[in-house]
Amino acid sequence: MKALGLCGSARRDGNTGALIQAALEGAAGQGLDTEMLFFNELSLKNCEGCLKCQDGTSDGCALIDRVRGADLVVIGSPVYTGQVTAQVKNFLDRLYAVSSSSKPIQAPGKQGITVTTLGSGNRRDAEETRKMLNVLFWYMRCSDVVDIVGAGLFWLGDIKRHFYAGGDAFYLKTVLQAFQDQGGHTTWIDI
Ligand SMILES: Cc1cc2nc3c(=O)[nH]c(=O)nc-3n(C[C@H](O)[C@H](O)[C@H](O)COP(=O)(O)O)c2cc1C
Repeated sequence: MKALGLCGSARRDGNTGALIQAALEGAAGQGLDTEMLFFNELSLKNCEGCLKCQDGTSDGCALIDRVRGADLVVIGSPVYTGQVTAQVKNFLDRLYAVSSSSKPIQAPGKQGITVTTLGSGNRRDAEETRKMLNVLFWYMRCSDVVDIVGAGLFWLGDIKRHFYAGGDAFYLKTVLQAFQDQGGHTTWIDI
């Protein structure tokens, strides 16, 4: 069993990555192998609308195969001007072609977690980003999804202060509990 983290933040050590890492650590605790990828480091070109992701000949196909092979996918993005980052949008555009191909990522039994971080303290400002991250799981026909929203995280390292205030163990327990209990329904977790 494998858990794959996909981080859409431009900052490797940012708030989004820390939350994805926490979810992966929870998955590792349940015996899954984990891997974390940063879109910023994958050098994917912008989608050119060629639909070659359908036939396995684009520069995004290796990444798409990693998603195919994962039992749990954790995808995260900070809110950038009200939406996912450009890196995440580029990845989702690649999957559009795959989802309408003869080899879609059919995912019965797969599970998903979305992570949205934002500077605003109002979680409603995360809504567009949260919905867009869920498009990944819609493309994968995966309905077993938990949403995590970290609002009020503006500065680099803000999440660490939350961790220390709330305690890592408490946080991981919350994520895991929701992940195990949500039974196919999308769940909010406030941090
Ligand atoms: C270019 C840019 C645009 C942003 N736009 C918003 C925004 O529209 N709403 C908001 O609440 N926060 C916004 N933020 C704040 C980030 O969402 C916030 O700092 C987040 O915690 C960054 O995550 P990271 O540490 O993983 O990079 C923006 C930050 C940047 C750098």
